[in-house]
Amino acid sequence: MNDKIPDSALLDATDEANSNTSDNPHFSSILAKRLSRRQMLSGSLTAAVAGMFSATAMPQLANAKGPKFLPPAAGTNPAFALNPLLTFAAVPPTRSDTATVPHGYRVQTLIPWGTPLTGSYPDYRPDASNSGAEQEQQVGSHHDGMHYFPMPQNPNGHGLLCVNHEYVDQYNFHPGGANNANPRPADQVRKEIAGHGVSVVEIKKDSASGTWDLVRGVYNRRITAGTPMEIHGPVRGSDLVKTRYSPEGTMTRGTINNCGHGYTPWGTYLTCEENWAGYFVNKTGRPREHSRYGVSTGNGRYRWETAQGGADEYIRFDASATGADPSQDYRNEPNGQGWIVEIDPFNPFSLPKKRTAMGRFAHEGCWLAPPQQGQPVVFYSGDDARNEYVYKFVTRARYHKGVNGDILDQGTLYVARFHDDGSGDWLALDFDSPDFQAAALAKGVTFADQADVLVNTRLAADVVGATKMDRPEWGTVHPQTREVYMTMTNNSSRTAAAIDAANPRGPNPYGHIIRWREQGNRSWATRFEWDLFVLSGTEDDSQVLPEQGGPGLSQDNIHASPDGLWLDQHGVLWIQTDMSGSQQQSGPFGANQMLAANPVTGEIKRFLVGPNDQETTGVVSTPDGRNLFVNFQHPGDRSNAALGFTSNWPDSGNVFAHPGDPQVVANPAGPRPRSATIVITRDDGGIVGVN
Ligand code: FEO
Ligand code: CA
Ligand code: CA
Repeated sequence: MNDKIPDSALLDATDEANSNTSDNPHFSSILAKRLSRRQMLSGSLTAAVAGMFSATAMPQLANAKGPKFLPPAAGTNPAFALNPLLTFAAVPPTRSDTATVPHGYRVQTLIPWGTPLTGSYPDYRPDASNSGAEQEQQVGSHHDGMHYFPMPQNPNGHGLLCVNHEYVDQYNFHPGGANNANPRPADQVRKEIAGHGVSVVEIKKDSASGTWDLVRGVYNRRITAGTPMEIHGPVRGSDLVKTRYSPEGTMTRGTINNCGHGYTPWGTYLTCEENWAGYFVNKTGRPREHSRYGVSTGNGRYRWETAQGGADEYIRFDASATGADPSQDYRNEPNGQGWIVEIDPFNPFSLPKKRTAMGRFAHEGCWLAPPQQGQPVVFYSGDDARNEYVYKFVTRARYHKGVNGDILDQGTLYVARFHDDGSGDWLALDFDSPDFQAAALAKGVTFADQADVLVNTRLAADVVGATKMDRPEWGTVHPQTREVYMTMTNNSSRTAAAIDAANPRGPNPYGHIIRWREQGNRSWATRFEWDLFVLSGTEDDSQVLPEQGGPGLSQDNIHASPDGLWLDQHGVLWIQTDMSGSQQQSGPFGANQMLAANPVTGEIKRFLVGPNDQETTGVVSTPDGRNLFVNFQHPGDRSNAALGFTSNWPDSGNVFAHPGDPQVVANPAGPRPRSATIVITRDDGGIVGVN
């Protein structure tokens, strides 16, 4: 989700609410203890080391005294065998209303919002006059996390693309914007609900033209904020999820604000519910499982609860306790959100499953560690809100080729504590653990059972003393080393008073990327070692590999608010940004972008800059690395009646350009902007980004 100032008429819970009032230590103060101001960010040091950051010096830099990572256990993968050579010329910062890629690369668009997908395949209407029923058969809006599931017969030219649709911009989504009267027109509400969720899209590459296109096949599917879903895991049947719709507490409807994603070794997609809380309103007093997450007390984000006619599927967004018990109202409806949802893309009739053992928070995504035969399966996840935590889930059962999603219903949810000496602990949020019980007792917090712990995951993490972080966004696990990278996008609420004077990044407007390696290289370990990969920011306020004395960023790679992250099969670390509107418009960074990094050397180069006002998010490739899929979410999200459309991408026809091409300027009266997936390929058919 972008960081623009929310429309106060619609939003009273921001996308990154700071609802953590616990007294747990903050990551910034820990970092302050590890790094002196001089070591970390002094301009003179940055300049001094910049000269040594040549291609030949870099491997030595990487091997220099620095992070005390434990060596991989005998018999496990070697460290950093993948050392990708980034062969393209860096793209300069730009604010051109197009996709700018290096010379030698090209871009096509795929499945923009409104693309006919299922049923009667209703055409997209450029005036946004499609109905709610039509939107239910079209690709949703605000493309975010995404995964490509290759077809075995033609893995690099045919597959299923699963794409999250995080939210909608009402001005661009309806002709002339939304009607926000109270009550709201029911069909606008229906359309907005259908604009959310997930699309499963069968895509195929034409071998003659090299163009990808949607296949009107049996796998295509829309999952929306209204689709029936099963509740699985420890919370299934809990009193906390009983509603008028499901008095047994086994079902709920919809998945909301699907941001990052994950996938499993058994071929399913994981969609992650991030800023769901603000979609609900509770006017009768919020229990802790509402207040700690920011459920509104005024109105829901889009006022879906006010839809004309009062249909059950809409009034459920009002979580006020108005009935005699939970089976007569929707007081527990918000408790059906905040989970990891498993979807089988190869079975279009399967019910999505909420895997509650993996915890409830503002899930950015869910990142798999490479599975090992006979060992637990491990997923990492961040809670993207100011001062929230980093988590991992370790299955109780061991991995083998025959496992399925039910393995996700039993396991241990851990939260991270980062120590100031570069070590870290994973703290179990386990009702049956004496340590957890003792911590809860010490804090005067009571939980009824593990379902209560999971519905109140943030509170449980407070109890054990997890480390407050600067808005954890995406993570990714190195395919060989199993080292984990995670973006901390920024934190506007960290005050200077909350940190040591030696740490100049409080508040932290630019963000950073942290990485860690588990003890013994075992993803399921309960201890780890960590360091920083990059402090993002301007040329004067940034540093690569700070503990190794790395350089500041340059025009080739300055960026802020790192968000999307993916280590590909060739060892390239792709970094995507979600800079705020003001950071994009008045900062030195240009528009939101994607950079490529070599995790061994710390080399970072800007690869892609997107059109106006979008967020670059979601990246995956075909197995051969020759087709890179990327999403541009919410181009032109500043559009309104006064400004007109602030982007016309992609229907302007200016789909992509190269450095040096004329700047593309948006026409306020031009085509309305649409979120879309792009496919990036090399003119010579080579692997994207590397030699
Ligand atoms: Fe939807 Fe945390 O970004
Ligand atoms: Ca973000
Ligand atoms: Ca994000």
